[in-house]
Amino acid sequence: MKVSVTTLSLKDLDVDLLIIPVGRSLARARAAQIGGPIGEALSTALMDFEGRPEETLLCYPASGRSHRVAVVGLGYLEEVTREVLRRAGAAGAHLAMKTKATTVALCLPDSEFSSEVTGQTLAEGYMLASYEYNRYKAHPDEERTITERLVLHAGTDEKSARRGAERGRIEAEATITARDLVNLSPHEKTPTLLGKMVERFGRKYGYEVSVWDKSDIEKEKMGGLLGVNRGSLEPPVMIEMTWKPGKAGNSRPVVLIGKGIVFDTGGLSLKPTKDSMDHMKADMAGAAAVIGAMEAIARLDVPLYVMGLIPATDNRPGQDAYVPGDVLRMHSGKTVEVLNTDAEGRLILADALSYAKLYRPEVVLDLATLTGAQVVALGSQVAAVMTQEDVDADERMNAVMEAAERSGDLLHPMPMYTHYADALKSNVADIKNIGNREAGSITAAKFLEHFVDYPWIHIDMAGPSFLKTGLPYRPAGGTGFGVRLLTEFIRDYAYPKKR
Ligand code: BES
Ligand code: MN
Ligand code: ZN
Repeated sequence: MKVSVTTLSLKDLDVDLLIIPVGRSLARARAAQIGGPIGEALSTALMDFEGRPEETLLCYPASGRSHRVAVVGLGYLEEVTREVLRRAGAAGAHLAMKTKATTVALCLPDSEFSSEVTGQTLAEGYMLASYEYNRYKAHPDEERTITERLVLHAGTDEKSARRGAERGRIEAEATITARDLVNLSPHEKTPTLLGKMVERFGRKYGYEVSVWDKSDIEKEKMGGLLGVNRGSLEPPVMIEMTWKPGKAGNSRPVVLIGKGIVFDTGGLSLKPTKDSMDHMKADMAGAAAVIGAMEAIARLDVPLYVMGLIPATDNRPGQDAYVPGDVLRMHSGKTVEVLNTDAEGRLILADALSYAKLYRPEVVLDLATLTGAQVVALGSQVAAVMTQEDVDADERMNAVMEAAERSGDLLHPMPMYTHYADALKSNVADIKNIGNREAGSITAAKFLEHFVDYPWIHIDMAGPSFLKTGLPYRPAGGTGFGVRLLTEFIRDYAYPKKR
């Protein structure tokens, strides 16, 4: 989809569909302001339109270049948020599909936000809502038209709108990269193939990639990753991505770690299939988020030293699969008693977290589809976020919560009181890999905390990584959750004065 910005007057726009977002009770005034055939068509149609968020109405001007005009409600202007704008963009995309429009203009509405923010969120919402995964369809839905050209109509602030539109497009495309990876069939994303894909992305977007093979992983004594991999016919990899521009403002990197379980059967502690194993191709959604974020960061040319780390393997039963009772010696030197082979994510993440110490990172964020308990606690639209309780905990938590609010990738904090770690005491090893039935997401985070010695933020995104039924700008399937969250977090980190 091509995205551009114009300041042509509305009557001179020649598109299949012209979309005008308007605030509640402001539609009449807006119609009068527009005037001409477009304004006239609008004002007659408006008796059926209140301007509630996501409400839409289509009308047909008697003459003029654009044959279809639609209004999209924004609700009361003082209540407009970035999310409202994103959903307005999404509503526009749904109208375009319905009317089979291939060229679409979308007006930037007035709000308390800059044209940059408005341009970004509208473009983002529009592009993310237009996504469809059809790689495996012999006959992709012929009823469905894809927008070829999206034109954002800016009043005056053309430059700022253009900056926003560009950012929205890049962040949406990077999110789509992550969705595509999550939706890909497991046999096409074995660890080795995933490594090859990331090498290609690195060349395309300009970041460095190094993919370690099994012997490299053995040399690093990553007992967690190797243990989980034992039941598999496919060797594991560790993917290391580096974005280090000359003008980077930091000498110690920000490190992003993503769980890369390309399929989680549970291992010998086998999952039941129905509603449990069915969607476990999405167990690499944390990895996909990191891959998407590296793409966005590189394409936005963010002046910050950022690294991505992805431990990848599948988790399967097999002749040599690791078993309950196995004690693994991890990269850090700590030993772990495995009491459930389905608690595999924390084992591979622990090795990546412990390896990251080498870089003396400023901060590390890990993203993982880690626990079913997260879905039970927060549902499928909000991820859990945790950080160690030190003097800077509030500052870190505020920064990541702000990025969540800005990006629409929502988070909610969970506590990290010391006593939660008690559940991981083992009789034979330093710790065990599961707690009891209580507070499963927190004990998983407590497990990971054993392997960090730097400022750290943990995001358990089991719920929002994958949807069985779609949301306005998140069709069913992989959501790309985390890409825009990480990108906004990092941008803020790179330009702290602009806060
Ligand atoms: N990948 C799963 C977690 C998951 C569940 C992700 C549902 C997405 C949706 C993870 O590896 C897992 O199996 N966790 C176990 C941990 C338990 C054995 C301590 C779980 O949550 O049941
Ligand atoms: Mn599991
Ligand atoms: Zn898993």
